[in-house]
Amino acid sequence: MSIPKKVHIIEVGPRDGLQNETQTLSAALRVELIERLAQSGLKKIEVGSFVSPKWVPQMANTDAVLDALNSSNIKTLTQAQFAVLTPNLKGLEGAIQHGADEIAIFGAASERFTQKNINCSIKESLQRFEDIAASAQQLNLPMRGYVSTIIGCPYEGDIDPQAVADVAKTLYQMGCFEISLGDTIGVGTPIKFKRMLDAVLKDVPVEKLAVHCHNTYGQALVNIYASLEYGINKVDSAVAGLGGCPYAKGASGNIATEDVLYMLNGMNIDSGVDIDQVIATGQWICELLQRENQSKVGLALS
Ligand code: HMG
Ligand code: MG
Repeated sequence: MSIPKKVHIIEVGPRDGLQNETQTLSAALRVELIERLAQSGLKKIEVGSFVSPKWVPQMANTDAVLDALNSSNIKTLTQAQFAVLTPNLKGLEGAIQHGADEIAIFGAASERFTQKNINCSIKESLQRFEDIAASAQQLNLPMRGYVSTIIGCPYEGDIDPQAVADVAKTLYQMGCFEISLGDTIGVGTPIKFKRMLDAVLKDVPVEKLAVHCHNTYGQALVNIYASLEYGINKVDSAVAGLGGCPYAKGASGNIATEDVLYMLNGMNIDSGVDIDQVIATGQWICELLQRENQSKVGLALS
């Protein structure tokens, strides 16, 4: 496979990032963050989650965030699309009612992580997702699917690539237009990624895959590079490397969008995103949250 000439970035900072910050941002500030990101050319942005506010209080008010975005002219100005996480039918109802452009169901290859994250077994989660898929299909609502713990699990250790492939295949067959492969705790290395991708690619075409790399061990960029070599052209990232997963202790944020853009620009790969604007937004949000910027590129260039 040759390295793609164009790569699509899925900005997950306002969801994956903010869900794990100690400080809960107001809906108005979340909207400002999302609008800044959209203005920098990011066309797909995860803006929140319709999950239980008891489980993830930072994502409460995702309804107000979507309402504000939909009543502003940001979509017309930027053509950005706004996605939300929906773990069950209640979440789907919220997404529909508040006009999300896209939903995401989120499963995992590890039994214990699934239990901790969404309070059910893998089998039960896939049954729930079937119900969501049926409704989403009727409404023509695009549905993305996540597989978490693709390399390692905080509770079970190493994960068998075949377990990842099994969940990815089921989500694909359920109608997900894209499967995002999540290295939730960032323990992957290129060799482990390649082993995992060899298994998944037997069942899911490469153009349907995205990678979602947390940078806990500083391996995210090399794993993304390895995935590009496999022909994958969709990469999830979070401005300033915000966040982590509240149900994976010790997991740091996603790879910073700025760092992915710097690598892509240096390889003459088109992303359509203005790195300087993302860097400025990264600095802004870090000052607001009073936290260190996790983007090496953001720190070097600002
Ligand atoms: P549960 O307790 O089993 O649910 O939680 P339940 O159906 O028994 O309901 C319990 C209460 O939650 C009820 O309220 C429901 O109404 C409410 P009460 O009567 O007690 O007041 N509830 C909801 N409220 C709002 N929206 C909903 C909803 N559903 C039920 N959709 C549930 C099950 C899935 C809801 C819970 O476990 C949950 O919310 N989990 C969210 C976990 C989460 O958001 N994790 C982070 C995202 S995943 C991630 O970060 C990984 C990823 O980035 C990829 C990677 O890095 O690998 C995607
Ligand atoms: Mg994540």
